[in-house]
Amino acid sequence: MKDWPFEVHPTGWYQVDWSAALAPGQIKALKYFSEELILYRGEDGGRAQVLSAYCPHLGAHLGHGGKVCGSEVQCPWHGWRWGADGCNTHIPYAERPTQRGRLTAWETREIDGVVIVWYDANGDPPSWEWKGVPEFRDEQAYYPIFPYGAERHGQRRIMPQSVLENFADTEHFPYVHGAGEPGTHASWEEDGHYLNVKFAMNFGANGPPTWLTPNGPVAGVIESEAFGLGLGIARFLVEGRTVAQLVATTPIDEEHSEMFSTITTNRIPGTTEPEGVAAKWIALQQEQITHDFHIWENQRYVDKPLYAGSEERPFVGVRRFALQFYPAKRGDAATAGRRPEKVVEVTLDEPAEVVTP
Ligand code: FES
Ligand SMILES: [Fe+2]
Repeated sequence: MKDWPFEVHPTGWYQVDWSAALAPGQIKALKYFSEELILYRGEDGGRAQVLSAYCPHLGAHLGHGGKVCGSEVQCPWHGWRWGADGCNTHIPYAERPTQRGRLTAWETREIDGVVIVWYDANGDPPSWEWKGVPEFRDEQAYYPIFPYGAERHGQRRIMPQSVLENFADTEHFPYVHGAGEPGTHASWEEDGHYLNVKFAMNFGANGPPTWLTPNGPVAGVIESEAFGLGLGIARFLVEGRTVAQLVATTPIDEEHSEMFSTITTNRIPGTTEPEGVAAKWIALQQEQITHDFHIWENQRYVDKPLYAGSEERPFVGVRRFALQFYPAKRGDAATAGRRPEKVVEVTLDEPAEVVTP
């Protein structure tokens, strides 16, 4: 897999679309996890569903000319129909449907306006559920994510773990994001598939006041949450404002992922779409993430990094957290995700003072 020491895509939930981008009766062809897939929504406006793309009859791709009929998908070639569970429901020239072949129905959820699917290289069912993004579901206090904050950043040569490793990285802020100072790790909490890391930041450090910090430098927090390797939230908390950004990394093949970025921030009362500082924050973060993309697309994976200062513990910590998502291929234990030679507990000896806006 690129030059990474893993043989399979990590297990977990991955974004494939936004709910608002999939109309009733709409069907889309997708390619993720090196698989041909379709995503559709029934004409009744029911839930989104991901299915394998090839019709078991003679192999037509349902995402190219197939159509939605009621809650089912009709093949473009001979009109066979398939239900959301993948079972055949209708053959136009036979008395009854067949049970001898079916599509694979992928576990699909719509949570807070985001459509996600479960991927497990062994085909095992979900072992956890995604709790979503509270700001995305609170449209009284926050702007709707679609269309204002929803951006596809396209196919990139990025592995999901690169995005996670950002959680360890306090020192890249000045170089990649133009910050006046690095961040400081303030807290680190792990719970199974979930990781929560907070950075204390001095926004606007060593610089003149800007629209972002009109009163000069101000203490703030970046809270990062990982749910497996596919879904990560960065939450910027500064001067009473919350900017919540979901960065979703969905593997396309062994070298590429599609990057989705979804952002909202506090709604200015009486406005329907982001304006002023809110619009600037959303635009800023949509742009800032591309600076990370540039690094991740061109980096080479270093198995034994040269650590300096206090960065070793958090980097070893994120890599240890990531390992749980790489399964052994069934019947082939030799391909299990490799463990780092050195495993250390991540505890932060001297947490920085967290200033909660
Ligand atoms: S290939 Fe799908 S109905 Fe024949
Ligand atoms: Fe970054």
